Amino acid sequence: MAETILAAVAWPYGNSEIHVGNLVGSYLPADIFARYHRLKGNRVLMVSGTDSHGTPITVRAEDENVEPMEIYQRFHQGFLELFQKMGLTYDLFTSTHTENHFKVSQAMFNALLKNGFMYKETQKQWYSISQERFLPDRYVEGTCYICGFKNARSDQCDQCGNLLDPTQLIEPRTKTDGSTPELRDTEHYFLDLGTLQDDITKFLTDRESYWRPNVLRQSLGKINTEGLRGRPITRDLQWGVPVPVEGWDDKCLYVWFEAVIGYLSASIEWSQIHGQPDAWRDWWKNQTAKTLYFIGKDNIPFHAIIWPAELAGADGSFDTFFNDGKEEAFVLPYDVPANEFLNLEGKKISGSRNWAVWGLDFLTRYDPDPLRYYLTSVMPETRDADWDWNEFFHRNNDELVATWGNLANRLLSFAYKHWEGVVPDPGILSEADQALLSAVEKGFEVVGAEIEAVRLRSALDEAMRLASEVNKYLDVVAPWKQVKEDKAAAGRSIFVAMKAIDSLKTLFAPFLPFTCQRLHHYLGYEGNLFGRQYTQKFQDAVGEHSALLYDPSAATGRWEKSDLQSGHFFQQPEPLFTKLDASIVEDERSRLGYRNYYYNERLA
Ligand code: MF3
Ligand code: ZN
Repeated sequence: MAETILAAVAWPYGNSEIHVGNLVGSYLPADIFARYHRLKGNRVLMVSGTDSHGTPITVRAEDENVEPMEIYQRFHQGFLELFQKMGLTYDLFTSTHTENHFKVSQAMFNALLKNGFMYKETQKQWYSISQERFLPDRYVEGTCYICGFKNARSDQCDQCGNLLDPTQLIEPRTKTDGSTPELRDTEHYFLDLGTLQDDITKFLTDRESYWRPNVLRQSLGKINTEGLRGRPITRDLQWGVPVPVEGWDDKCLYVWFEAVIGYLSASIEWSQIHGQPDAWRDWWKNQTAKTLYFIGKDNIPFHAIIWPAELAGADGSFDTFFNDGKEEAFVLPYDVPANEFLNLEGKKISGSRNWAVWGLDFLTRYDPDPLRYYLTSVMPETRDADWDWNEFFHRNNDELVATWGNLANRLLSFAYKHWEGVVPDPGILSEADQALLSAVEKGFEVVGAEIEAVRLRSALDEAMRLASEVNKYLDVVAPWKQVKEDKAAAGRSIFVAMKAIDSLKTLFAPFLPFTCQRLHHYLGYEGNLFGRQYTQKFQDAVGEHSALLYDPSAATGRWEKSDLQSGHFFQQPEPLFTKLDASIVEDERSRLGYRNYYYNERLA
């Protein structure tokens, strides 16, 4: 029976460009996972969008003297371009700045309020008299009350590293104009996590046996030692989703409260775009659906505690608020396979210091599949990993080119030359022939099981190991020699090896979709393994947004062993990958810390 799978992917902040750390943390693993499940014939929905609200965007807008809308849309456009070039097949990549997202977020808020999981509390907050507004924590700086550091942010000190109580800051000043703010009372809504604690604990305990240890440590572990307390989920801000309560016009929902709701609102938007407004319920209200959240480790508490709390807390009221629908319980996350961090040449990636490899910039010099390959091969699934240009160079040349690309290329060129583009007749297979084919065939189970468990690194290793097996087989039978003495025997080996690489094409396809598609074509097949990506523009009451979509209708790929037959016509191949020159290592290293060529030049 086909499974129903939601691949929920972290929403990139709409105030900075995407680098390889972001890609490896969540976007790429989600795509590999989604592509695999599509090949399996499962019903996949992969959604995300730009995280368009919050103070980092308003800070940048004020710096540049433009509207926040302009900031988020600028970066959003770059995301759409990158995701298409990288082949990240979102069924919908949208934005949190849409009318639909506002409505869904407000329905969630109302449901939580009605169900009694929200309370109001008055806090003290810094207020700017000159600007006549409350200031977000990071707009206020002053002296740290713990260590005396003069340039501490009100919520965090960069010298002693402590998180600070903003109201205790000494000699506060407003970052934007240097004026002295004053403390004033402000009222906020709090999500009552304390009351939801038992539900969340049960939810986590039910999943304890298969979740990643780091995710459990930061969720169940934290709850067991510290317990849960209410969290304010509104802010004194103008840029964001309005609080749906009378008299609260000058406040917005806290960006983290509403961004996670994006998974749900994007699923709803996807349903509406495709003219089936209730389709989202198959993923969200049908308890057999499996929902997985692909995120980086800095997002764990929001996905393993707060989002499940919002979902569980809204049950019984959301559908009524949203559209008078039938009340059914939400599907809680099946897994949150958070990745650790990727460093760069031994140091933490830093966008502001340009210690980063930027996605779009990288793709001006290299192809997407080598990037997907390298990132998967070092994927930080259990511990932090490091992007090292020398390792990228070697993995490209020694594995992708030498083990896999050359295998396919040499084999097909040779076969094309000696059998004129027609798959030879194998006659009767030997034991060695059958052993190779059954080893490769077994790959569909082994690689598949690893992908399903989100152990993508090991899944890719296994596919590459099988490619080495085919190389070994060819070394032993040596059809290049055989052909001179016994063409029929050579034809048998070629048939076997072609069948093996035809299967490997499918095993590699979730990881290397572009080159596997080309190989599919060289092997003489029509049509596409996967569907087609496209963009579309939408206009609604809160603005305009472009979205990236995926049309699966023309996809013909299946997670099944090769069915190649003798007599089938195939094409003369071209190399799948490019061998890199060793000079790229120093060349790339010398760019680090300077500028982001692609981005600066394009916007200059
Ligand atoms: N913008 C956040 C980040 O890049 C991720 C948000 S995930 C969401 O770290 F679900 F909350 F949107
Ligand atoms: Zn300090």
